[in-house]
Amino acid sequence: MNAPTSASRLRQFDDLPGPRGVPVFGNLFQIDSTRLHLQLEKWCEEHGPIFKLRLGPRRAVVLGDHELIATALRDRPDGFRRTTKLEQVWTELGLMGGVFGANGETWRRQRRMVMAAFDPGHVKRYHPALQRVGLRLAKRWQQAARDGTTIDLQADLMRFTVDAIAGLAFGAEVNTLESDEDVIQKHLNRIFPAVFKRIFAPIPLWRWFPSVEDRALAHSVVEVNAAVEGFIVQGRRRLQANPALREHPSNLLEALLVAADEPDSGMDDKQVAGNVLTMLLAGEDTTANTLAWMIHLLWQNPQALAQATAEVRRVCADGEPPTVDQIGQLNYVEACAHETMRLKPVAPQNAMQALRDTTLGDVHIPAGMVVIAVMRRDAMSETHIHEAARFDPERWLADGHPGQHASAAKRISMPFGAGPRICPGRYLALVEMKMAMAVLLSRFDIQNVSTVDGKEPRERLQLAMAPVGLRMKVREHGISAQA
Ligand code: HEM
Repeated sequence: MNAPTSASRLRQFDDLPGPRGVPVFGNLFQIDSTRLHLQLEKWCEEHGPIFKLRLGPRRAVVLGDHELIATALRDRPDGFRRTTKLEQVWTELGLMGGVFGANGETWRRQRRMVMAAFDPGHVKRYHPALQRVGLRLAKRWQQAARDGTTIDLQADLMRFTVDAIAGLAFGAEVNTLESDEDVIQKHLNRIFPAVFKRIFAPIPLWRWFPSVEDRALAHSVVEVNAAVEGFIVQGRRRLQANPALREHPSNLLEALLVAADEPDSGMDDKQVAGNVLTMLLAGEDTTANTLAWMIHLLWQNPQALAQATAEVRRVCADGEPPTVDQIGQLNYVEACAHETMRLKPVAPQNAMQALRDTTLGDVHIPAGMVVIAVMRRDAMSETHIHEAARFDPERWLADGHPGQHASAAKRISMPFGAGPRICPGRYLALVEMKMAMAVLLSRFDIQNVSTVDGKEPRERLQLAMAPVGLRMKVREHGISAQA
């Protein structure tokens, strides 16, 4: 852990500053879960980088200091676990468990299996399917351009990420981009927000008085579980019909099934199903929301937009969805993604629970204590980042190449988390984001990106943080407004 501090100098929970609460419920009623991250950032300003919260009977220490956050994130799975509350809400909903919620030995086994399935060779084999999804996005926006309609940015980008992840996860061409039908996405969209809301609910009213919303949620869980089980049956059939797939699985589900079939894997089809569901949930909103924020920030920064557009039109001169090679050349676009995630991290907080007594800085953290990391505080601070409020993709580049510049931003901004539980989908997410941006910037000229009232989009947190109400108008590149 941190530099040793003698026990007598350690601060205890009760010694910490923090917002005043009320008896029994503590700070619970001060929390609106849809803007929790903004509230935590504000409290960081008032009480400093370590403060306390009482959430009913639960106690939490909030961390805003990036070094302490990194220390805690790296001390997993032995020092910290994901919270028992998350596990309780997830299980009560009837959702199957996967690597995101797992802990201890189960997590180790599941993480190994998931990482094997994310092997770069496998993701490369999947690239043509991703190009097809890119093409479908292009067609959808071409239609909008021709009809002169406004694009609901969030909704279209979710279709893109659902199709991309479904292709990777199940080898299924789900194709929500070309359909306006009632799709699995509708059910998935209910689950994330509900999990998050229930974690912070002062009283579990749904147990005694289920609302219409609660019943719709229960229905969605049944639908999603049935869909995932159906995908597993199909995957098993494919493996049986073509045993060569065991050597070269063509999607993540097949790779997970093969890994589960290994002797002593300790994994069964239920755990495979839980991980397929986890991929869908963890890979959908996160990537779509980051893309929506990136398009908004580029529109606000015309010089960066011009530079990103020039790069895309040089690398993808034929306007086709980029190959693996071309994706690797979109360095400026990648820097825009990193800069977007610094300013608008879609996971702006990360909650953990201590498994043993430990220390963070000069604070004693007893076993069982919840620790909430506030990810954006230092990434937006002038103390750490020069002109922190400015959208400046250059800070991620050295000589036009990413990955060579040991900038402060890279150390401090941790949009994918850190340590052993860092997001296993991060490279895939970057590839997907570069694919969508290449489609947009090679084929279209953006005419406008705005909210209905023209104000800065509100940040809404529902486990992932999204911009509210962003709309976009585009024109096909090379076709004049009158044509
Ligand atoms: C821009 C897109 C994304 C962002 C910002 C993001 C962010 C994160 C963050 C912050 C975590 C928690 C890490 C930690 O606790 O240290 C996480 C975990 C995870 N993410 Fe992502 N993610 C993205 C895309 C994806 C995609 C595309 C997938 C899969 C298809 C994915 C799968 C996962 C999984 C399975 C975990 C749990 C890992 C574990 O607990 O061991 N994510 N992600």
